[in-house]
Amino acid sequence: PKILILNGPNLNLLGQRQPEIYGSETLDDVAAACAETGSELGLETEFGQSNHEGEIVDRIQQARGTCEGIIINAGAYTHTSVAILDALNAFEGRVIELHISNVHAREPFRHHSYIAARADGVIAGCGTMGYTLALRRMAGWVL
Ligand code: DQA
Repeated sequence: PKILILNGPNLNLLGQRQPEIYGSETLDDVAAACAETGSELGLETEFGQSNHEGEIVDRIQQARGTCEGIIINAGAYTHTSVAILDALNAFEGRVIELHISNVHAREPFRHHSYIAARADGVIAGCGTMGYTLALRRMAGWVL
């Protein structure tokens, strides 16, 4: 089974951007940890990032029929994007919404997520370890 791990805007700056909130690991570090955990679990993984809403929609559409699950950190689009919700609603597999920070302990505009209505599970505030936790949850569902 294949899992798409998809990251939204500004996550390319992980490790440099507000490290007091998001930590010092880079997105490449996270991608490496996901590849390692994925192969340990017997999951194929694809890791991606885009700053563009439409490209995120395209990647979700491409996962239809090819991936059993999507782990998505949509960044700020979490709080704004009906288009990403609609794309996830057209995907038949499992969905985990992920945030590195605890969005519920931050500004009120981060408390609402459009994606949460579609997510099978939500991970927030576990730092970058959330990605490998999400993969382990996916393994239990799809293997
Ligand atoms: C984030 C939380 C969002 O509110 C923020 O816009 C991000 C990152 C997180 O991983 O904690 O870009 O999704």
